[in-house]
Amino acid sequence: MERKMSSLIKQEELERQIAFIQQIKELNAGKLKKYKLATYGCQMNENDSERLAGFLTEMGYVETRESKEADLIIFNTCCVRENAELKVFGHLGALKRYKQSNSDLIIAVCGCMMQQEHIVERIKKTYRHVDVVFGTHNLHKFPELLFGAIDSGHRVIEVLDEEGIIAEGLPIHRLNDIKAWVTVMYGCNNFCSYCIVPYVRGRERSRRLEDIISEVNELGNQGFKEITLLGQNVNSYRGGDDENHDFAEILYKLEDVNGIERIRFMTSHPKDLSDRLIEAIRDCSKVCEHLHLPIQSGSSDVLHKMNRKYNKEKYLKLIEKIKSSVPGISLTTDIIVGFPGETEEDFLHTLDVIEKVRFDTAYTFIYSKRTGTPAAKSADQVPEDIKKLRFERLLNLQNSISKEINEELLGKNVEVLVEGLSKNSQEAYTGRTRTNKIVNFKGKRNSDPIGKLVKVQINKIQTWSLEGEIV
Ligand code: SAH
Ligand code: SF4
Ligand code: F3S
Repeated sequence: MERKMSSLIKQEELERQIAFIQQIKELNAGKLKKYKLATYGCQMNENDSERLAGFLTEMGYVETRESKEADLIIFNTCCVRENAELKVFGHLGALKRYKQSNSDLIIAVCGCMMQQEHIVERIKKTYRHVDVVFGTHNLHKFPELLFGAIDSGHRVIEVLDEEGIIAEGLPIHRLNDIKAWVTVMYGCNNFCSYCIVPYVRGRERSRRLEDIISEVNELGNQGFKEITLLGQNVNSYRGGDDENHDFAEILYKLEDVNGIERIRFMTSHPKDLSDRLIEAIRDCSKVCEHLHLPIQSGSSDVLHKMNRKYNKEKYLKLIEKIKSSVPGISLTTDIIVGFPGETEEDFLHTLDVIEKVRFDTAYTFIYSKRTGTPAAKSADQVPEDIKKLRFERLLNLQNSISKEINEELLGKNVEVLVEGLSKNSQEAYTGRTRTNKIVNFKGKRNSDPIGKLVKVQINKIQTWSLEGEIV
């Protein structure tokens, strides 16, 4: 019953927004209106931005990369670390002069940062040239909010405290035509003590399995070759009226989708990584041999304070299980250094895990205090210089391991999904292996491998990428 009600609201809401899109389209008729969209943060924000771009395309806007020629500038923001926020404020400040030279320019900010009250207050007070502010829970109302600002000439601010319905059927303008993001669930229930995400993205909500499958089918029909299923913690996906479908089921179901050659997913929380999911990675031919499994710290004491719900031994056991079930799997992780109270001994545990697991890549972050999270209140903050030194040590160790792992590929043939021309050289192509390693390679004359799977022989190794020649 509840499900029926919510899909009814969905349909009505969508129709309301379509009416606003139409009104803006009429205002834009006969004019060349341009938008610039800047996205910060994770893949989920990128996927949200693709929805915003979908709306804008329907309204008749075309994209520009130049702020000075834009009629509408949007920032889709991230607040996971302080530097992400500082960047946005810096850019917003710089936009004031564009507004002075073009009084019709509309500036909008949305995304995770806006879900924090103190940020919205600061924008209201200090950044008066911002016209539209909205959050993560009402992204689907963007047409209505934008129309409100254009029509009234006043600023429009709407941020909702609580997550609402999952909006299906929104238009989308994807940024890549070979690889696509597919969000399977929204929000997070884990409340890791350092992390702001649960406060700005709300509680976990899973999309219906049939909605996910139909989106992927459509992507296959449109010629996409790879999809990445997204969620803050995909392992806790529970779809269906009785919450009876788990994440592994999505992977098994997607095996049959025509056209899609590769399936990736992120992120997995170690506490919820089930045997069923490991089996699905092993059994499903399209699911790539790559797992991103953030450890955050190698110290059991720190992990406890982080509220991660596993310890060093449990994580290492899990890694052993994965490596023996899926030989050759590439493993990547996220690590935070300088969590409050982290001692030298704690940090040595992190280095020890890095040496034991031998991750292909680690995304390393210096702990950043986030207002509203429990860890921010700790009196035990680690001094900046110590954080920086630990960060360097971690990076050096990981880089040497990444390089050693890549060296094992020298002379070998790998399967590459070709994504486009290499940035470094117009004569070379770029793509990724199933294990998610970037490969730049020389192609054959007169062949156009973009969007295809090709075999490449690796003949040179870098820390972050591989080079080779098509065979
Ligand atoms: N849901 C995902 C990732 C979310 S944020 C997960 O649980 O793994 C991506 C990464 O940012 C996290 O894995 C963590 O390593 C890092 N991060 C989150 N909060 C942070 C903070 N306050 N300071 C530094 N890094 C942080
Ligand atoms: Fe943040 Fe933890 Fe949720 Fe990941 S699982 S989004 S780190 S609270
Ligand atoms: Fe940032 Fe929001 Fe993603 S805080 S990491 S953009 S969920």
